[in-house]
Amino acid sequence: MAQIVGCVNTSHVPAIGKALALGLQDDPYWSPFFSGFPPIHEWLAEVKPDVAVVFYNDHGLNFFLDKMPTFAIGAAQQYVNGDEGFGAPDTPPFAGDEALSWHLINHLVDHDFDMTICQDMMIDHAFALPLKLLFPREGKWACPVTTVPISINTILYPFPSARRCAALGKTVGDAIRSWDEDKRVLVVGTGGLSHQLEGERAGHLNREFDTRFMDSLVMEDPNWVTQYSSEDIIEEVGTAGLELIMWVAARNALQGPVREVNRNYHIPISNTAAGTQAFAPA
Ligand code: DHB
Ligand code: FE
Repeated sequence: MAQIVGCVNTSHVPAIGKALALGLQDDPYWSPFFSGFPPIHEWLAEVKPDVAVVFYNDHGLNFFLDKMPTFAIGAAQQYVNGDEGFGAPDTPPFAGDEALSWHLINHLVDHDFDMTICQDMMIDHAFALPLKLLFPREGKWACPVTTVPISINTILYPFPSARRCAALGKTVGDAIRSWDEDKRVLVVGTGGLSHQLEGERAGHLNREFDTRFMDSLVMEDPNWVTQYSSEDIIEEVGTAGLELIMWVAARNALQGPVREVNRNYHIPISNTAAGTQAFAPA
């Protein structure tokens, strides 16, 4: 049977990609963010995942306002990092894990999650960047694990609740554990933490809420934040801070006690509060 080796949640600010490309990890501006990763790299080298299931939010590249699935899952052979307006990224396509995709789809639909099934799906910075951060490679970068993308709508109202995302994540975790393959699966959540990129509250951050949220994810019951509606979460952490629901989904794939492998939190990266937090089963 497959096993979940752990969960990693991290911010996905596009400027991180440029910093990576320029090798600025030790630069004084960037090092407070990148310094959160070496302990996670050491841990990943020990637990050796074969597959990453990635909860992320598409930012208008694959899905736009005309068609916006609340929950979508990839079932493709590969995923291309499309051009988000900065020029086509030179990242090679990410290999899909079609067998796991279809196992998840069958399990989720069977458990009342009406997923949009995407046999063709472009992925954006929210999927690609965290994998680049987690799996550094010498030379031209290529993703060393197969992947399954799961996208959660955070750009067109109404949004799924944190409570519903927790249930989705738990069901994805149950599905992974029931997969009849001897594979080691890492679950990733990307986005956040508090930030708002536009409007009157552009630049809004909330260190206190972010800290409380990260603290809550270490608990055996990680669902403190599910007491809040999406509107309340946006009030606290800004419109784009709602991306923290990816962290909720990913963390709920793990059940039972967890060990915090590492945590990092830094303000500002771009105009966001950037966080990284990794968990292993205790
Ligand atoms: C930016 C974009 C994001 O998707 C995000 O989560 C944070 C920042 C940006 O464009 O700076
Ligand atoms: Fe984002």
